[in-house]
Amino acid sequence: MVKICCIGAGYVGGPTMAVIALKCPDIEVVVVDIAEPRIAAWNSDQLPIYEPGLDDVVKQCRGKNLFFSTDVEKHVAEADIVFVSVNTPTKTQGLGAGKAADLTYWESAARTIADVSKSDKIVVEKSTVPVKTAEAIEKILTHNSKGIKFQILSNPEFLAEGTAIEDLFQPDRVLIGGRETPEGQKAIQSLKSVYAHWVPEDRILTTNLWSAELSKLAANAFLAQRISSVNAMSALCEATGADVAEVSYAIGKDSRIGPKFLNASVGFGGSCFQKDILNLVYICECNGLPEVAEYWKQVIKINDHQKSRFVNRVVSSMFNTVSQKKIAILGFAFKKDTGDTRETPAIDVCKGLLGDKAILSIYDPQVTEDQIQRDLIMKKFDWDHPLHLQPKSPKSSVKQVSIAWDAYEATKGAHGICILTEWEEFKTIDYKKIYDSMQKPAFVFDGRNVVNAEALREIGFIVYSIGKPLDAWLKDMPAIA
Ligand code: NAI
Repeated sequence: MVKICCIGAGYVGGPTMAVIALKCPDIEVVVVDIAEPRIAAWNSDQLPIYEPGLDDVVKQCRGKNLFFSTDVEKHVAEADIVFVSVNTPTKTQGLGAGKAADLTYWESAARTIADVSKSDKIVVEKSTVPVKTAEAIEKILTHNSKGIKFQILSNPEFLAEGTAIEDLFQPDRVLIGGRETPEGQKAIQSLKSVYAHWVPEDRILTTNLWSAELSKLAANAFLAQRISSVNAMSALCEATGADVAEVSYAIGKDSRIGPKFLNASVGFGGSCFQKDILNLVYICECNGLPEVAEYWKQVIKINDHQKSRFVNRVVSSMFNTVSQKKIAILGFAFKKDTGDTRETPAIDVCKGLLGDKAILSIYDPQVTEDQIQRDLIMKKFDWDHPLHLQPKSPKSSVKQVSIAWDAYEATKGAHGICILTEWEEFKTIDYKKIYDSMQKPAFVFDGRNVVNAEALREIGFIVYSIGKPLDAWLKDMPAIA
């Protein structure tokens, strides 16, 4: 039986390995992590991450050919293939701080592999890493290997949170990069045969190591760039009376552009886009390509601009101050169907409103009070460090913030509502009931364009939808960009 071990039981390692175990009953898969609470949760009924369909997959394989353990050394030593899916945050200190990837966790995983291995292994980069990381990892492994042979493969993950299981079941493509030597090609074939259990052969792409590593950064940069492009258009739409939904639809009909990923919003979030673009920018700068670096940097600048534009719109619409006004925040996760709040635009929007002394009542169906409080006091880039290194509960909390159990409680007595995550339930809640319980004039600032703005206006709300023609009220109180 082939044995796979995956170091890192996070949003990628957990679901990816669960699906491999489900689709490959002839392979034993062990996911290991140094975070004990995380492993305990994977072994319980309350999995550490929320992902539609994940519970079902885990239940089918756990205890059969899928295991979760903190015994990193034992399972790495026994494995034929070791995936490394640890976090690769942005550096917070030293050379490249604020841009370069921090490979501390990766290096520590590589050293563990070198230390405990007693047989030849294929080591798979699953984490998103800077191009050329495999070269550094090879050095660590070969310098410490006591004659054991390692083949490094790059197999970046393209799943999207919220649809991870669907994406893993039917990936657009699986990408495997390896050395162009006979041993490298043999390793590629071994990994290919794992995916071939369920992925059609023509969807398994093989490349050299550097192409695979760079493709992941490139894919995230292109995806984020699309969002920043449509968000940049949304600002122009508001200024001119065009409707961004109509513009998106019209341009998306062009088969060269295509209709996906063209929704305007308060901005992109998530653990990857910003971090990976910063990483790309740093690599460009290190390779003497400042113009290319500047081009990609702009994607992040527009994203930041979109978030501050949203805050400015809220404040200016409400007579230029939200001081001591209750604002309901509906949605805190960075997108629907996940409880993940890493780099969620809600953090910046909430901090912006708190800066103007607003009182926030936050509701999200999947995010805990502890998580929200922790996010609002955490420093930039500190979030992407293993959970076990973070305080269990925040040492202090933001006093002007309370957490509500549902949208009705959050909005009661509020002056305004900011919708920051596109949860389905925000489309169907009883806005008339909400309107009746709010201060007047009652505002809705829809950062995801999920509500029926016309229906809400009929109830009496003043509604702001991103990139849509403005209400007379909002036109009279233009946001300062
Ligand atoms: P995560 O933070 O959820 O999980 C990483 C895990 O690795 C943590 O539980 C941590 O305790 C563990 N870890 C760190 N160092 C370790 C060590 N030396 N030994 C054992 N365990 C260790 O991170 P996530 O979201 O799963 O991301 C992992 C990688 O995958 C990152 O490079 C990320 O950029 C990439 N990625 C993430 C995607 C996402 O949607 N979250 C999608 C595609 C790629």
